[in-house]
This record gives sequence, structure tokens and C-alpha cells, in this order.
Amino acid sequence: MGNSRSNLHHCKFEVPEIIFGRGLLSQIGSCARRLGGHKVFLVSDQGLVNAGWVDKALKHLIDAGLEVIFYNNITSNPKDVEVESGAIEYIRHGADVIVGLGGGSSLDAAKGIAILVSNGGRIRDFEGHDKIVRPLPPLVLCPTTCGTGSDVSQFAVINDTENKCKLTIMSRCVAPDISLTDPDTLETLPDEFVCTTSTDALSHALEAFFSVASTSLTDVHAIKALRLISASLVPAVKERHPDDLENLARASLHAGMAFSNSLLGIVHALAHPIGGLYDANHGGINAVLLPEVLRYDLPVVAEKLPDLAWGFGHRVDGNSGAISEVVQETLDTMLDAAGAPRSLKSLGVRREDLPELAQRALKDVCILTSPRQANAQELLTILERAY
Ligand SMILES: [Fe+2]
Repeated sequence: MGNSRSNLHHCKFEVPEIIFGRGLLSQIGSCARRLGGHKVFLVSDQGLVNAGWVDKALKHLIDAGLEVIFYNNITSNPKDVEVESGAIEYIRHGADVIVGLGGGSSLDAAKGIAILVSNGGRIRDFEGHDKIVRPLPPLVLCPTTCGTGSDVSQFAVINDTENKCKLTIMSRCVAPDISLTDPDTLETLPDEFVCTTSTDALSHALEAFFSVASTSLTDVHAIKALRLISASLVPAVKERHPDDLENLARASLHAGMAFSNSLLGIVHALAHPIGGLYDANHGGINAVLLPEVLRYDLPVVAEKLPDLAWGFGHRVDGNSGAISEVVQETLDTMLDAAGAPRSLKSLGVRREDLPELAQRALKDVCILTSPRQANAQELLTILERAY
């Protein structure tokens, strides 16, 4: 894993306590208890209720002697109003620990509620870097998809419904106390979401790897995630073998640890305004953008190409151009085989909105760590190629 930009001289690597393993949802109650909780505010969604995981979580929480308030007023791309009403409910019931169970939407909503119950105000007040003043209540996050990374990250992304945009909140405060992953929960995840949440994790890994803030510590996790996704994405979607699903859950965790510490890039800078304007699937947007952003980034990350090729499962000799070609072909083949969306048009994006989306991406915090500092015209070209 050698490259000139990765070093240990100036880096900080932070992760929550991590618990990972099949069947370990059973520890959800003991996690909440040892953080001092008595009354749990459980944030999840209707899909997890229907799949039976909320009942299992409730049982484990109650068996641990905890009272539980269940809150599931959460939709995909969680909304400011959902988070704000969740905070009112938390306070009304006198809860003292928050447990999030679900995909990125439930976990980000749990973070948003945690921010508001200790800091007050509106969720939009906390957009940007380090706006949170008071510490959050104890937080346990249990991901049930293979992509969010929210369970280890210092990000929360909430939709501002008035301005139809995503608020990216970034603070060490929003990383939870405990990340608890039980890969068994992936068994009820529909194929489509196995694919798109994995392409979200793939974007996290690749953007973290190319980020100007990457270090050898983040690179290790980014490449591990890439190798796991390369090996298991297509078989997981097609055959649903539990080992492949577990690999994808593990990949999401590694990618989350990488991007939480090295941040992201143009894929997410563009995906946030698109998700804000259209309420489209986050991982699907990333799957569409990733090949075009990779094409744009590869010329400036030549020193990382051998490790990148290895992450994709290749040992490639040759010049940077040859390695880039192999990497791009491998990515395209993998996305096609997994059934990922391949055009912005197919996601409902309107061509006339592309210039506005490019402008909004310039203001997203994720653009700051891109290896190439794109201007509006370059972002527009990426969007047009992905259209
Ligand atoms: Fe993401």
C-alpha cells in the first residue's frame, strides 16, 4: 500500500466501538444499557417492521430491562420535519438513549434527532462543519443495508424540504458511541437495495481512497472494502449466499471507516443535490456517477493506480493509461452484472436541471477533498456524460 501522499505523520483516525457478527443484534440491549440508558428511543422504518427485525430488536431491548419508545416516522432521504418531530417525541417521553436500526435514512434520522434533543433549534442550523455545540445523548447505530457507513461516520445528511436540498452535517459529535452490525439483517434486503447500497459503499471506498485527506490508515480500509465488493457484489445480488452478504456488510463498515476519516469527493458532492431535488435512491445515483467521476479523477492519482487495480482484483503491469482502462472496464462490467442503474435519466433527473445541480455541488462540503478541483463546467460535463 505504498504511495507518496499516504502517511502517518499528520493523521487522526477515529471510529466508534464496533461490534460485527451474525446474530449479534442480540447485543443491542446490552449496548444501550452500558451507555447508561433506561428509556430507549428506537428509530427505524416500516420496511424493518415488515421484515420482522424491529420485533427482534424490541425483544432484545426489553429483555435487557429497558423501556422502549418506537419511532418510525422516517422516509428515504430523511426529512427535516421527520427529525424535528422525532426530537419532540424523544423529549416528551423523557428518553435517555437513541438506537437507530435500518439503512442510512434511519441512522441519519437518529443522528439528526440526537443533535436536536441536546442542541435545540432547527436541523438546518447545523449544516456544515462543526456547528454542534453540546454533546449528543448516547447513540447506538445498527445498519441493515450494505452501504450507509453512517454507523461509523461523522456525517448526517438530512433533506431540507423547504429548499429541496440536502443538508450535510459534519462533526465528530455525530459519530455514534457504538456501531453494531448483524449481517443476518441483510437476508431480507431486496436485491435492488443489495446492489444500490453496495454501490454507495463502493463510492465511499473509492472517494476515500482518492481524497486529498486520505492517509495510509484510511487507504487500508478503502482497499479492503473495494476487494470485498469486487468479489461479492455480483454473487450476492444473484445468489444471495450469506457469506457474500456478510462480505458486503463488512465492506460497508470498512468503507465507512475510510470515508469518515478521509472524507469524500465529487460523486457525493453531486449526489447530494440530486438526492435533494428528486428524492432519488442515493446508492443508485452514485452508481451512475462513479464511472464518470473515476474517468475524471484517474489522471491525477497515478501513484495510487496499482493499489486500485489490486483492489479490483487485478495485478496489472503497464503504464497508467493501461491500468486506468482495466479499472474502468472492470467497474463497468461489475455495475452491469449487478443490475445497477446506469443513467441519470433513468433516475428521473431532468436534463434542464443539470447546470443548477453542478452549481449546487460546488457548495457541498464533499467537493473540498476531491483530488481534482472541478469548476462548474467540468461538473456539468460529468453530469452530461452520466445522463
Ligand atoms: Fe453515500
